[in-house]
Amino acid sequence: MKLIAGSSNSPLAEAISAYLDIPLTQANIKRFSDDEIFVEIMENVRGEDAFFIQSTSHPANDHLMELLIAMDALKRGSARRITAVIPYFGYARQDRKTGSRAPITAKLVANLITAAGADRVLTLELHAGQIQGFFDIPVDNLIVSPVFIPHLQENLNGDDLCIVSPDVGGVVRARALAKRMGADLAIIDKRREKAGVSEVMHVIGEVKGKKCIMVDDIVDSGGTLCNAAGALKENGAKEVHAYVVHGVLSGKAIERITASPLEKMVITDSIAATDAVKKAHNIEVVSIAPLIGEAARRIHEERSISALFK
Ligand code: R5P
Repeated sequence: MKLIAGSSNSPLAEAISAYLDIPLTQANIKRFSDDEIFVEIMENVRGEDAFFIQSTSHPANDHLMELLIAMDALKRGSARRITAVIPYFGYARQDRKTGSRAPITAKLVANLITAAGADRVLTLELHAGQIQGFFDIPVDNLIVSPVFIPHLQENLNGDDLCIVSPDVGGVVRARALAKRMGADLAIIDKRREKAGVSEVMHVIGEVKGKKCIMVDDIVDSGGTLCNAAGALKENGAKEVHAYVVHGVLSGKAIERITASPLEKMVITDSIAATDAVKKAHNIEVVSIAPLIGEAARRIHEERSISALFK
C-alpha cells in the first residue's frame, strides 16, 4: 500500500499516514515557468495499491489538474490499483442542468478522473449521493457521522436538542442525524414572496427554547448558515450551533461567521484550515484522518467499509 499526498492538504495526508503508520511516498510536485503542473512519484510503485490524497478545494482548478496528472503518473508507473482519495470533491454543486445550456461539472470531473487512470474513488459526504453514479468505477462515499455524533454527544447532549436543516435540500441529512440523536427536527424554508423582494426565512418546526444544531455538507460564503442562525434566534432558539462537513469558507465567510449568532461551527479538515479559520473564536476543526485512513486500509485489505457506520 502506498500513500501519496497532493499539495491541497498536507496536514490531513500526514495525519492519515500517522494513523496507518505508513510513510508518505515522496512525490515531486512542481510548476513550470508557464504554470503547467509536473508530478513525479519518487519511489517505485510498480504493482502497488496506490492512494493519492487530494481535495479539489481552492484553488480548485489547480488541485483538480494536479490530481489528474498524479493519476497519469501512477498509471504510467504501473501501480496495480489507483485510488483517488478526494476528501472534498469540488465542482459537485453543478450536479444537474440548471439551464438550457448549462454544464454538469460533477459528471465532467468524474469522467476526467476516470480517464486519467483512477480505478476507484474514496470520498466523503458528496454534495449529492447520486454523484457516485456519475462514475463507472467503484466510489466509496463515506459519511461523517462517526466523527460528528460522538462530538455532539460529548458537547451538546440533552433533551432540548433540535437538529435543523438550513435549507430544504439538506432535509435528508438532518433527518438522519435527528433520528440517530433522538432529537427533534426543524427545517428552514427560504422563500421569495415576490420578484425583487428579499427572501423570507420560514422556520418549520418548534425551535423556541431549544439548542439548535444545523447540519450541512458545505459552508462556502457562510450566507446560508448565518441567515438561518438569525432566523432561528428570531424564532426563540436558545443556542445555535452548526456541524458542517466541508469548510470551503470563501470570500468574507469567516468574518460573517464570527459576527453571527452561531455559538460554534464544527467543520472537518477535509479542506486544510487557513490561519483565519484556526483563529476564529467560534470555529472548531475535527479530523477525519482516522475515518479516511481506516476506509483506505479496508479497501486495501478488501474488507467491509459499511461496517464502519454500524
Ligand atoms: C447547498 O446546497 C449546500 O448544501 C450549502 O448549503 C451551500 O453550498 C452553502 O453555501 P453558502 O455558505 O455560500 O451559503
